[in-house]
Amino acid sequence: MTKKLFVKTYGCQMNVHDGERMAELLAGQGYEQTDRAEEADMVLLNTCHIREKAAEKVYSDIGRLKPLRAAKPDLRIAVAGCVAQAEGAEIIARAPSVDLVVGPQSYQNLPELLARVDRGEKVVETEFPAEDKFARLPGRKTRAPAAFLTVQEGCDKFCAFCVVPYTRGAEVSRPLARVLDEARTLVAQGVREVTLLGQNVNAWHGAEGGLAALVRELARVEGLDRIRYTTSHPNDMDDALIAAHGEEPKLMPFLHLPVQSGSDRILKAMNRKHRAADYLALVQRLRAARPDLLLSSDFITGFPGETEEDFDATLALVEEVRFGMAYSFAYSPRPGTPAAERTPVDPDVAHDRLLRLQALITRQQREAQESMVDRVLPVLFEKPGRQAGQMTGKSEHLMAVSVTAPETLRGEIVPVRITAALTNSLSGELAA
Ligand code: SAH
Ligand code: SF4
Ligand code: F3S
Repeated sequence: MTKKLFVKTYGCQMNVHDGERMAELLAGQGYEQTDRAEEADMVLLNTCHIREKAAEKVYSDIGRLKPLRAAKPDLRIAVAGCVAQAEGAEIIARAPSVDLVVGPQSYQNLPELLARVDRGEKVVETEFPAEDKFARLPGRKTRAPAAFLTVQEGCDKFCAFCVVPYTRGAEVSRPLARVLDEARTLVAQGVREVTLLGQNVNAWHGAEGGLAALVRELARVEGLDRIRYTTSHPNDMDDALIAAHGEEPKLMPFLHLPVQSGSDRILKAMNRKHRAADYLALVQRLRAARPDLLLSSDFITGFPGETEEDFDATLALVEEVRFGMAYSFAYSPRPGTPAAERTPVDPDVAHDRLLRLQALITRQQREAQESMVDRVLPVLFEKPGRQAGQMTGKSEHLMAVSVTAPETLRGEIVPVRITAALTNSLSGELAA
């Protein structure tokens, strides 16, 4: 009999992808995915520890499952992801209805872990095993034209605010041959675009030449038309990778390159190991290689010690770069990180700065989107749009585009004339 699995994922794209892989693995155990928690036999909360709010959500979610559990006593509740890794057995102590806690480096063991749950055990698995977890996962199965592909995991950077080095462990790169095999498997299933994932994806060293070499190998895979990667660190942006942006047409002209702050004092306190001017010089070199490159970034406001002057430096950096989009967050102290020991900035001040920064970023995003109007852009159609008769897809600059188009164009890259810039997407018409 098939059982039903409900997965709820928080956090980064890596977590989204891990959620997909866990669902694929559990499909082999007779679990069929549902988007309705009420009919689930197992609920998998795939959690994020990055900010306090994200980490606390898991407990409110578990609370909300109470009536379901009351109605269905053998409902399984599993907690995966970075909160699982960070809090381990504490989760079951605080929320006894949880059956299983599994960290991101152990999810390949889910079938065995669930068998132990079936025998009545409460199971906590947060080891960092030495084995290649990908070797133990089932082959990829996807029907989407664009797919994620994990090439690197973990982080050795230890930014003073961040839990990721603790929740995801040390940097590990998957070998070139394995990545190429997986890419070919995806392409054989109709995938035209891959996004290479890693916590520090440009620190990939699965072969000589680093990420640039991997991009160039992937570009030779016939049928694969678009390559992206995320998230990169400014200090790992080497000459070869910058050059690849100019020379490799399959490498898309959109780059997420987090900078966090525009103040040298704060960058130092954050342990980012570069100055604002280094970042600006890097942006200049990238744009010299690929003039239409659109940049995106992450920012934190109200990091301990941040003054109004430091914040002005962040605004100045944003003004100078002109981002296509960016994510920004008010600083959240995280247990176990060095910054959590420092005197915090007043949360109201941090929030006020966040709003000012977001207003500036929103203006820049709007400008980037408006610059696309009247242009003819190649769009990879991914799925039906919100309105009947519409398809949505992505432009090379990773902007969502909605077009009246037949569903048969799913998986095709088609020229689209952009007619309007909406808040978070573009609309257009088939140009052919
Ligand atoms: N590996 C990536 C992303 C890490 S997490 C990188 O190096 O950039 C994604 C973003 O969350 C970070 O870039 C940072 O802007 C934000 N973030 C991380 N820890 C945070 C904290 N304690 N408070 C607020 N924002 C945080
Ligand atoms: Fe966190 Fe810094 Fe590593 Fe990014 S580089 S994951 S922000 S420690
Ligand atoms: Fe969150 Fe873990 Fe990703 S803390 S941002 S889910 S690496």
